[in-house]
Amino acid sequence: MIGVFDSGVGGLSVVKHLMNRFNSDIIYLGDTARLPYGTKSKDTIVKYSIQNAEFLISKDIDAIVVACNTASSFAIDELREKYDIPIFGVVEPAAKRAAEFDNICVIGTQATISSNAYLKKIRKYNNNCKIEQRACPLFVPLVESGWIDNEITYMTAKRYLFDINCGVLILGCTHYPLLKDVIRKVIPKIELIDSGEALAESLDEYKDVFQGSGSLECYTTDSKEKFAELGKMFLGKKFNGVRLTDLN
Ligand code: DGL
Repeated sequence: MIGVFDSGVGGLSVVKHLMNRFNSDIIYLGDTARLPYGTKSKDTIVKYSIQNAEFLISKDIDAIVVACNTASSFAIDELREKYDIPIFGVVEPAAKRAAEFDNICVIGTQATISSNAYLKKIRKYNNNCKIEQRACPLFVPLVESGWIDNEITYMTAKRYLFDINCGVLILGCTHYPLLKDVIRKVIPKIELIDSGEALAESLDEYKDVFQGSGSLECYTTDSKEKFAELGKMFLGKKFNGVRLTDLN
């Protein structure tokens, strides 16, 4: 059983790839009551991530996936130091894949970009490439409003990205894969890296842990109904049995 956490429902975009590749059995925690993490300080993000991990570990899981890019950027080292089960984040696999290019752009939340987590990981694999980073804070509320492909979302993407001139763009946030079509309209010729997909594709050597029968049990810290409704969009299908939990 794999424990996956995110600041909200967005991490179901990562679950989708784990399920497609491994049919994993997943316990998912979306900390919707405290979303967004992307505007918060390192201390707060680390504190929330530890509480999320504690909750999942209490469910007897074999590994943790930190689906949230912001939590992966700030808390992965602390979590690995604290717990002795395998812990996987979304930053490193996407950074490794991007490092094959000479000219890279990373987009993410304000916190992810200011952490320089992607920049540092890309540098580990490629010391000579050009790296540009941009925060796109309006993308998360747009996606959460279901505005995936309308004029306002297009204008916003254009404002953030019109002058990007890179070979590859890392979608460094759980919500951004849903904006692929809009992003491609603004910058058509760019390669896009979905950090959840890059993570799933990096896990073949842990197949034994991730392979399962495709069960999904979801917990949220706020409205179950809202979680299920929004979650459909990220997972790409309907699902049942969302439960409410209180991490305090
Ligand atoms: N899940 C967050 C991420 O991937 C986006 C939403 C938030 O700001 O909490 O960075």
